[in-house]
Amino acid sequence: MSKSKIISEEIINNIKHAINDKKSNFHHLHEPLIEKKDLNPIKHAINSGFVSSIGKHLKLFEKKIKKLTKSNNVVLTSSGSTALHTALLALGINKSHEVLIPNFNYIASVNSVLMCSATPHLIDIEEKTLGIDVKKLDNYLKKNTYQSKKGCINIKTKKIIKSCIALHTYGYPCDIINLKKILRKRKIVLIEDSAEAVGSFFNKKHLGTFGYAGIFSFNGNKTITSGGGGAIISNNKNFIKRCKHLSTTAKGKHKYLFFHDTMGYNYRMPNINAALGYAQILKLNKIINAKRKLNQRYLNAFKNSKYIKIYLDRKNSNSNNWLNIGILNHKYSKFRNTIISSCIKNKIFVRPGWSLMSETIYLKKCPKMNLSNSKSLFNRLICFPSSPYYNYKK
Ligand SMILES: Cc1ncc(COP(=O)(O)O)c(C=O)c1O
Repeated sequence: MSKSKIISEEIINNIKHAINDKKSNFHHLHEPLIEKKDLNPIKHAINSGFVSSIGKHLKLFEKKIKKLTKSNNVVLTSSGSTALHTALLALGINKSHEVLIPNFNYIASVNSVLMCSATPHLIDIEEKTLGIDVKKLDNYLKKNTYQSKKGCINIKTKKIIKSCIALHTYGYPCDIINLKKILRKRKIVLIEDSAEAVGSFFNKKHLGTFGYAGIFSFNGNKTITSGGGGAIISNNKNFIKRCKHLSTTAKGKHKYLFFHDTMGYNYRMPNINAALGYAQILKLNKIINAKRKLNQRYLNAFKNSKYIKIYLDRKNSNSNNWLNIGILNHKYSKFRNTIISSCIKNKIFVRPGWSLMSETIYLKKCPKMNLSNSKSLFNRLICFPSSPYYNYKK
């Protein structure tokens, strides 16, 4: 038997063992867990007639997010992508700015930067956290930027590096404490892309609450879902007010007149989606318990593997284990695609990581540092089926 076949078989067997699902042969990457009782708030929203941008469930969902994150200011949006765009708009990001973006990333961050006519500046990650390599970034900024009254200036482009969108990859915290330190001294505003990290904590603090603002996604593939939806949180009340304004077509307050004080967007979450989000957040703890159990089962199933290791949450982190991640030993990275194809043939829908931002056709000219870690990780990383219903206790 070829080496790639031996490895694939071992991985398939281990995944099946971890999942331990006797009912189904199909194992999707991440499906939502929606129970019959989740329909009650949706019915209520429909019966109330408030299905769009106002309604009781928007308030209820918002309240639950505040309680979970201990953040006083929340705005609900139509998606995580629109949350990112709104946050950058509210920060005043424009064409004179660059925004630091980890190279191993979902596409929404760079797009939100481009939608503000600013420039994504690609930075490397580390394998230890799957997030920004803070030491490497600090050294890079020391050599390639200087501080002026305007902020941190890129020596080459002369643009202001105004913000950094840190990613908590697959729900696991990046090196957020050290990152915050090196950005603060350069007056670079930290936004946390916590799209995948609802219910994830570091040092008992919810992810998304370390920086100036954090965003979440409630897309159907996330730990909890509102069908489609997102949120922005921040300790800065005025910032959230501005986010709310911009995501509500910048409409002025009046009983019946329609007027708008700047160009805004219709980025609001509809009440009908908030109703599902509310039903889902009520059982977030149960879902996360199930996901933690699955993570333990993956760690056990793969503990003796010579070929691949399961990513292990760091000390002081209490993550939602959104996805279980396998990282191939360097020697076997050349088999990644064969392994993925074999799993899919066996109805185990594993996936590689996102294509790197630096390899994305319209981002080729973006300023960037050496990106060797993200390149290495991309070649070796496989996302394993991690739906919340395995081990879920009603
Ligand atoms: C890391 C990350 N950022 C942003 C988003 C965007 O969220 P949405 O799909 O709700 O627009 C996602 C969701 O897929 C994501 O995984």
